Amino acid sequence: MKNTPIVEMKNIHKSFFHVEVLKGVDFSLYPGEIHALMGENGAGKSTLMKILTGIHKSDEGEIDYKGEKVTYTSPKDAEKDGIAVIHQELNIIPYLSVAENMFLGKELKHGPFGLLKNKEMNKKSQEYLNRLGITIDSIKPAGELSVGQQQMIEIARAIAADTEVLIMDEPTAALTDREIDTLFKVMNQLRKDGVAIIYISHRMEEIFKICDRITVLRDGQSIGTKETLTTDFEEIVKMMVGRELGERFPKRTSTIGENRFVVDNLSHEGIFENITFNVRKGEILGVAGLMGAGRTEIMETIFGARKKSGGRISLDGKELTIRKPHHAIKAGIGFITEDRKDEGLILGLSVRENLVIPNLKTFSKTGIVKEKKEKQWTEEMILKLRIKTSGPEQEVKSLSGGNQQKVVFGKWLGIEPKLLILDEPTRGVDVGAKKEIYSIMNELTERGFSIIMVSSELPEILGMSDRVMVIHEGKVTAIIDREDANQEKIMEAATGGVRT
Ligand SMILES: Nc1ncnc2c1ncn2[C@@H]1O[C@H](COP(=O)(O)OP(=O)(O)OP(=O)(O)O)[C@@H](O)[C@H]1O
Ligand SMILES: [Mg+2]
Repeated sequence: MKNTPIVEMKNIHKSFFHVEVLKGVDFSLYPGEIHALMGENGAGKSTLMKILTGIHKSDEGEIDYKGEKVTYTSPKDAEKDGIAVIHQELNIIPYLSVAENMFLGKELKHGPFGLLKNKEMNKKSQEYLNRLGITIDSIKPAGELSVGQQQMIEIARAIAADTEVLIMDEPTAALTDREIDTLFKVMNQLRKDGVAIIYISHRMEEIFKICDRITVLRDGQSIGTKETLTTDFEEIVKMMVGRELGERFPKRTSTIGENRFVVDNLSHEGIFENITFNVRKGEILGVAGLMGAGRTEIMETIFGARKKSGGRISLDGKELTIRKPHHAIKAGIGFITEDRKDEGLILGLSVRENLVIPNLKTFSKTGIVKEKKEKQWTEEMILKLRIKTSGPEQEVKSLSGGNQQKVVFGKWLGIEPKLLILDEPTRGVDVGAKKEIYSIMNELTERGFSIIMVSSELPEILGMSDRVMVIHEGKVTAIIDREDANQEKIMEAATGGVRT
């Protein structure tokens, strides 16, 4: 690590509509380091990075880059100077090819008419992708790729430019384990080449694996910077939440009752087959598996968002005919999807509107929305889930990522479904809020609800499930009781190792 910082942000202030979200933040970054930026949802991490890259303008404060004061007015400006960013929200244009996406805004052209050098761009992007160890055809439309693959294109695009500072805002949220490994290799290589990396993630294990230093923000203030080697999990969590958090997972307390939800030989040709399992009253069934194993597709089929090619589903002894999601909702099944932006939320509407949409029936006896009741309930949810917002009328799209996820959760709580399916319920959610979500899950099961929780985070699967079902290539490879479940068993079944 050289001893002059490449980036130095001093006393950064920023308000949105009179709410101060950054209150004099200092942050410095050295060449050749991977520097984690941590903090609860809404602490101001993304905003600080948006100020560094010219998306937002700070109200006060100074940014020095290579020893000189800079003010960027757009991300393009910053990129020209060597500062590239991979945002929390993906920026892929689905109908353009992989190569076109990678060269967007910096297309290679030749001749006086500026003809595009398509061949060369295709070749170059293929090279960058190879460097990341990914096999994606660069002439394919980007929209046909998985979210993880799209993320990889963004990473490839960022390292293709002569980048000296690379900002990664939750880059691994949608990546498979193998993609994460590849990403870490690339990051290590970049570090060796002297690139400075700012890394934002809520996954503690990752931070401690890859980062040299950690800076913690809380409520828009810098709380401190630590060397990863001389700190630990507890200290960082305490800096983030300002108090001891205690156990990561609340104790499971619900009494498990009779059989409630039965899935019998559910199939969808080519994606999954003969899926058979049950969920009991008050039970949390964890569903583990590698990304792409078919877990989301199974849940979407149960919910009526996909057509099944065979099999039966019943709830409380009654066979259900579910062809559309509203049939499922009517039968008492709720579904929190993994992709909040596409399916979970209407970004242009307010927190209140998003919270009450699926509950309109509850609030609108005789067709008139009971405004007061609606308002009261919204406020209750904001408090209960600790949604960080300036008020019920704030647009959901201006909430921080993790707070958006809490709104998705709140949406379904009003309906009180008998069975709630959660697909990656805590993705992008900070440690404190994760624990709150776990407590809500506990409370719901205590009241007799059943929960299916699909998750790629093994600690969460082990911490919260009463039983764990493992899916591998569209088949159930194991159903394990809580007492017998451990990481090795699950991984073995998830990679197709054994049948228990
Ligand atoms: N464009 C905007 N308009 C209004 N408020 C905003 C806007 N952008 C961010 N905020 C607010 O600023 C605060 C900080 O948000 P930011 O996105 O920086 O948090 P974060 O630390 O990145 O959180 P997360 O971990 O959830 O991604 C939040 O309270 C958010 O609601
Ligand atoms: Mg953020």
